[in-house]
Amino acid sequence: MKIAVFVSGGGTNLQAIIDNTKDGILQDVEIVLVLSSSKEAYALERAADNKIPSVVVSRKDFDSIEKWDDAVVEAVEKSGAELVVLAGYLSLLGPKIVSRYSNRIINIHPALIPSFCGAGMYGIRPHKAALAKGVKVSGATVHFVNENYDEGPILLQKAVDVLPDDTPESLQQRIMKECEWKILPQAIRLIADGRVIIENNICYVR
Ligand code: GRF
Repeated sequence: MKIAVFVSGGGTNLQAIIDNTKDGILQDVEIVLVLSSSKEAYALERAADNKIPSVVVSRKDFDSIEKWDDAVVEAVEKSGAELVVLAGYLSLLGPKIVSRYSNRIINIHPALIPSFCGAGMYGIRPHKAALAKGVKVSGATVHFVNENYDEGPILLQKAVDVLPDDTPESLQQRIMKECEWKILPQAIRLIADGRVIIENNICYVR
């Protein structure tokens, strides 16, 4: 299966996917495109180091959402990707890409949706909110993407204990390492194997 990975920052989730295509559970998956919302994203270095084609499609380079949305669709269609994976991608996708790739876009969110999600809840913020609320577990969620932040059907979740001496940074690191970098490749595997069914906005794995 060919996938396009959308990034905005460090690209550690992209790296987890790359590592699994080399000697893990995704050896029959090809990353045909890395699309970044920012030319500063270190994820672009990771793509270059692994000879993966990349492109920067930044909203601020376009004079309308429609033209930006068209550019995103064009880049993905040209790449031949069958699945779009948002991996640390911070922009809300336009309506055209969402409808053109309906139920073929997944996202990794660093909390157990429906907790600590939605507009503005990205990066360190979900972990700060989790500690402020005093939750005893937190984790990550892979979900299908629709036109609203973090609202599509949930495919996989994985939790870790919140430790008494956790800081937002230590919690973020543990969730990335023990949750995000595991369930995102697992989700791609399930989709590549055709094992995911969505009925009434609920995911079932057969
Ligand atoms: C991670 O916390 C991820 O959950 C969130 O963006 C952050 C950076 O991800 N979506 P990455 O290192 O760029 O993959």
